[in-house]
Amino acid sequence: MQCGHLVVPLYPLLMCKAFYHQTSDKIATITTEASYSCVLTKITLKICVTMAMRLVLVFLSALLPFSLSQGRDPLAWLYTRQSPGYYYGSVQALTAGGGDCPEECDCPPTFPVAMYCDGRGLTAMPSIPSRIKYLYLQNNAITAVPDSAVVNATNLVWLMMHHNQLRSDAIGTKVFLKLEGLERLYLQHNNLTSIPPNLPRSLRDLRINHNHIEKVTPADLEGMDNLTILYLHDNAVSDMGASLKALKSLTLLDISGNKLTKVPDALPEHLHQLYLESNSIDSLPEGFLGGFTQLQYVRMARNQLTDKGIPANTFNVTGLVELDLSFNKLERIPIVSTTLQHLYLQANQIKEFTLGSFCSIVDVTNFSKLQTLRLDGNEIDRRDIPSESALCLRQASSIEV
Ligand SMILES: *[C@@H]1O[C@H](CO)[C@@H](O)[C@H](O)[C@H]1NC(C)=O
Ligand SMILES: *[C@@H]1O[C@H](CO)[C@@H](O)[C@H](O)[C@H]1NC(C)=O
Ligand SMILES: *[C@@H]1O[C@H](CO)[C@@H](O)[C@H](O)[C@H]1NC(C)=O
Ligand SMILES: *[C@@H]1O[C@H](CO)[C@@H](O)[C@H](O)[C@H]1NC(C)=O
Ligand SMILES: *[C@@H]1O[C@H](CO)[C@@H](O)[C@H](O)[C@H]1NC(C)=O
Repeated sequence: MQCGHLVVPLYPLLMCKAFYHQTSDKIATITTEASYSCVLTKITLKICVTMAMRLVLVFLSALLPFSLSQGRDPLAWLYTRQSPGYYYGSVQALTAGGGDCPEECDCPPTFPVAMYCDGRGLTAMPSIPSRIKYLYLQNNAITAVPDSAVVNATNLVWLMMHHNQLRSDAIGTKVFLKLEGLERLYLQHNNLTSIPPNLPRSLRDLRINHNHIEKVTPADLEGMDNLTILYLHDNAVSDMGASLKALKSLTLLDISGNKLTKVPDALPEHLHQLYLESNSIDSLPEGFLGGFTQLQYVRMARNQLTDKGIPANTFNVTGLVELDLSFNKLERIPIVSTTLQHLYLQANQIKEFTLGSFCSIVDVTNFSKLQTLRLDGNEIDRRDIPSESALCLRQASSIEV
């Protein structure tokens, strides 16, 4: 918009650059992929330059009738990528202070707060200019993060370090102390044996799945009031203690594929999704799902659950949309709420189809909202389903036996 008012041919280009700096940051926060943001900013530039170009063409058409009559656009180099070197070189020349990017990384001039060092076989941390907010270091072979590596990186908002070879004893104890604005930390697929100390309280999304973590302590996650996503799956955690209780914004918790023998005490009350599959949980505490206000998805497949370990009415809670209890040792269908939509019970030892598990009363307004019901791999067959089921399970579009 600013560009539309410009008259002097070179001045618009500088305005475009300024426009960039203002918007690139905003775009990064509303998209999940920074490379996508670059495309967006490039489009922005193109529009901007095209508008400026019109003015320039008006200006130049008087001076350069010959070059235009040849059909050659004098500003083509600015917005096409036919000669990328020239294109980037020109923009970089306009971008002040672009010389601090380490050789092994890319710092696109179009997105000056991001640095891409992913998938380059790095074994050590590159130096990080202080302007960087989004740092991509995934898919390398980095083993250590010494305190000195991040002294200048105090503006980091995203730090992507998944698929490296980080070991807990090679992460400096002060590394995270200065990253006070960090919101996303991806550490999945490394060799960590514990959650790094002093993680920033500002974190919103912490992914540390596929490591070798054995223990999570309350101090590890203390004060993370904004944490909404926590991926801890595929580690070796046997006890969570009360480490999760204080996470008041947590909506997605994945601790599947660990060594839990019981459900963690004191789960955060605002969870939407709770994934506990592939552990060794054999029983559930009384009122286990009673305290949640927004819980919709509960996955507990591949545990050791038996009928005896599940108190009556554990799953008869409204609000639940999906319940996965497949690959356990259940002999009966547990009582579920009429509002449940998807129930997975395949590969248990269920011997009887109890319609009362779904409907205690059946009439015009009382019926089950169940759409998906899987009972295959149990000890019943289709003939065990009573004909009255059609009334109770009138919304079920898929029943597998
Ligand atoms: C941090 O910044 C200072 C001053 O710009 C520089 O001398 C130093 O090498 C930087 N350190 C790292 C690890 O990037
Ligand atoms: C990380 O773990 C993998 C597999 O568990 C192993 O092959 C590799 O040597 C480990 N790397 C380090 C640096 O410990
Ligand atoms: C959580 O987010 C809010 C709003 O963005 C912010 O004001 C607050 O400081 C954050 N809390 C922490 C612990 O960083
Ligand atoms: C499930 O809970 C509702 C209300 O909380 C109750 O009316 C209903 O009888 C319960 N279902 C069974 C089968 O106990
Ligand atoms: C279900 O049946 C009970 C008892 O017949 C009735 O009071 C209630 O209004 C019905 N509808 C719903 C949605 O619970």
